[in-house]
Amino acid sequence: MRSSVAAVLGVEVSLLQSGMGGVAGAELACAVSNAGAAGCVGGYKLAGEALSAMLRRLTEGTDRPVGVNLIPEVVGPEELDRQIAQVLDETPRSVYVSLFGMPEDEVFDRVAAAGRHLVVQVGTVADGVRAAERGAVVVAQGIEAGGHLLGHSTRDELVTALRDRLPDACIVAAGGIGSPDDARLAIAAGADGVLLGTAFVVAHESRAHPYFKSAVTAATGTDTVISDVYEIGWPGRRHRVLATDVTRDPKQPKNFIGRTTVEGKTYLVPRFSAAVPTDATSGRIEEMAMYCGLSCDAISTEASAAHIVAEFAPVLPGAAEVAKTKKG
Ligand SMILES: Cc1cc2nc3c(=O)[nH]c(=O)nc-3n(C[C@H](O)[C@H](O)[C@H](O)COP(=O)(O)O)c2cc1C
Repeated sequence: MRSSVAAVLGVEVSLLQSGMGGVAGAELACAVSNAGAAGCVGGYKLAGEALSAMLRRLTEGTDRPVGVNLIPEVVGPEELDRQIAQVLDETPRSVYVSLFGMPEDEVFDRVAAAGRHLVVQVGTVADGVRAAERGAVVVAQGIEAGGHLLGHSTRDELVTALRDRLPDACIVAAGGIGSPDDARLAIAAGADGVLLGTAFVVAHESRAHPYFKSAVTAATGTDTVISDVYEIGWPGRRHRVLATDVTRDPKQPKNFIGRTTVEGKTYLVPRFSAAVPTDATSGRIEEMAMYCGLSCDAISTEASAAHIVAEFAPVLPGAAEVAKTKKG
């Protein structure tokens, strides 16, 4: 039997906020969860005390379901194991694990054995089928998406193909969803909910640099490009970003163009770094990786996370609606 993602995760609105390294801290994730959807922090390369500090802020900020996003291909299987162990040890069961791309098979069993939900973002039918068969919520990412791209299909092509193969699985659509109308299309294609990234970059609670936020609100889809230039720290995967002087001229030197602070530690930022500019970044922000989906077409103002959730809620299946259908 098909269920909305709200019913599966135990939230009210079938809306997932994407974990976004640097941008999605505990403040954003908790604001989204406290508004009735499913928030998520971007764990990216955090480990040890830095990850613990983020997990503490997350669990202090909400007692509702909320996620921690990790990226298997960035950290590799051993580090991923350590990150997952920390999440499972240091958070209550209301915290779910979100992964960008497929992990090794053991990860599915380990997260399930801890009684946690696993949400896996995929870009192909084969990966979606594998993730669903192992009990995960499947996020189907289309090439409209901001950030790194897992496949080559458009969002609704992938959702439709996955729904054909997986009539009962919980499938969430991602990529290019900037308005309730976009969300309606994804639900009509067979999704049980939606995941939004770019729409939450411009949330008041997001840690995106103010320049990045205003660039997203001013942009249209034609200002984005699929590139592979921002590869320092995450090589070998195409990403959709706002076009910059760096995407236009990738032959520039790899010198430092700024500095940034992550969990109290300061780092120099080289040109071509995969790291997004945050409110703790200074330097040539306009040359940094500003991931942005075609969804920016419909995003023109900054708003609170609660406002964004409230705007989408009416077109999305809610947990209450599913409960009603079951009774009826
Ligand atoms: C600024 C930014 C950073 C992102 N970082 C991550 C990340 O760390 N982990 C992840 O799973 N997905 C990440 N994504 C991709 C999203 O999960 C998702 O595929 C995408 O945002 C959906 O398209 P949309 O941006 O048009 O909503 C990021 C997206 C953006 C815009």
